[in-house]
Amino acid sequence: MSKTIEQVEFLRQHAKRASEKAYAPYSQFPVGAAILMRNGDVVIGCNVENVSYGLSNCAERTAIFSALAQGYEAKDMETVMVYTPGPKAYAPCGACRQVLAEFFKAESTVSSTCDGQLRQWRVAELLPDAFEFDIEAYRKPVS
Ligand code: THU
Repeated sequence: MSKTIEQVEFLRQHAKRASEKAYAPYSQFPVGAAILMRNGDVVIGCNVENVSYGLSNCAERTAIFSALAQGYEAKDMETVMVYTPGPKAYAPCGACRQVLAEFFKAESTVSSTCDGQLRQWRVAELLPDAFEFDIEAYRKPVS
């Protein structure tokens, strides 16, 4: 569903405010994300870094994991907006694309914003030919 300018700005403000909660002492790059639920609720996330670097979690994944922990399901998640600081709105990293593909519909919109840019993609565009399989087909028969 396409969004009005007010709806986009509403979600953008949530994503920007979420970036203020980031724990990013190593990159100094605070990122925020805001998921709009189909019922109008918003769940936010921020990047959380770690001294071992590789354990760092991006804002998008924090938002999705928080939403699940709060009881939301994939079917509730409509769209997500990311806020990155500086002049460029960045696209989600590869790990986040795979996680977005797990919980959002292929045609869902993913937006990225900064102070001056707004970029948008479909989940299927960010991760074409996503890895997915039918887990039932791989279950061993009970003997
Ligand atoms: N980061 C995000 O949170 N989301 C993105 O889409 C790109 C990168 C974080 C990871 C790391 O904490 C910092 O930004 C620099 O890469």
